[in-house]
Amino acid sequence: MLLTALLAFILAALFSERRHNEAVLTQSKERLQLVVAELDHRVKKVLATVSAVAANTLAASRSMEQFVSGLDGRLRSMASTHELLSQKRWRGLTLADLAQQELAPYRMSNNSEINGPEVRLTAEAGQAVAMVLHELTTNAAKHGALSRREGRVSVRWYWPLNGNAHDRLVIEWMESGGPSVKAPSRSGFGTSVIEDLIPYELGGTVDLAFACDGLRCRLEIPSDCVNRDILLAANLKDLSSARPGRGGLISYGP
Ligand SMILES: Nc1ncnc2c1ncn2[C@@H]1O[C@H](COP(=O)(O)OP(=O)(O)OP(=O)(O)O)[C@@H](O)[C@H]1O
Ligand SMILES: [Mg+2]
Repeated sequence: MLLTALLAFILAALFSERRHNEAVLTQSKERLQLVVAELDHRVKKVLATVSAVAANTLAASRSMEQFVSGLDGRLRSMASTHELLSQKRWRGLTLADLAQQELAPYRMSNNSEINGPEVRLTAEAGQAVAMVLHELTTNAAKHGALSRREGRVSVRWYWPLNGNAHDRLVIEWMESGGPSVKAPSRSGFGTSVIEDLIPYELGGTVDLAFACDGLRCRLEIPSDCVNRDILLAANLKDLSSARPGRGGLISYGP
């Protein structure tokens, strides 16, 4: 009698464990399917971007050499952004990391300044902003401030207050000390990335100015491109500490 009860108990426990394991397995399979679908979507998007970048770089190149170096630089920048994203497990990209990544090959003592509050962009927004920063940086090195020893680039960002909300992020790129600048008669792929990508992909705005003492570019990015926890912190922060040049900012010297 006792033996029968014991056997029944063991069997019930085994069945219960098996049901539990099956439920866990089903959940894992469903999660795996979601991850594979997401990966599939992201790979397709990356391939479409690479294809568009290659075609546009070719169309804007005057020689094969220019095509190869332009494409190589753009692909390397995309790969570094991907590496940053992967290190952060796709939880977004900080603006400071992106600016440092793009300016790193050209940084010498005192030729660049990166300054702003902590901002973590969503993966999609971070990838678009990285491409724009890449074009601004390579242009500064080819045509602008970074082509001269005494030239300087400043990248800063802040949350302008709109009523009681920080509803957009402003990123300002400013060059100084480079050759005298005039508006170009022809523009290449770089200008179209700078001017069109953020409005098209993120619904932001871009103001690119060929000022004679140095190129300026002002980008405005909607707040939904920023990870929510950081946005909340910016909204709660005392206004004065959310402006550049005041307390609470992170400054990255060379
Ligand atoms: N930072 C800058 N300072 C001065 N002139 C600039 C600057 N950035 C761009 N320009 C001018 O604008 C032109 C267009 O730039 P754009 O990036 O579109 O093309 P590109 O750099 O010549 O070629 P690519 O298609 O490889 O980017 C440049 O040829 C240059 O005359
Ligand atoms: Mg260019």
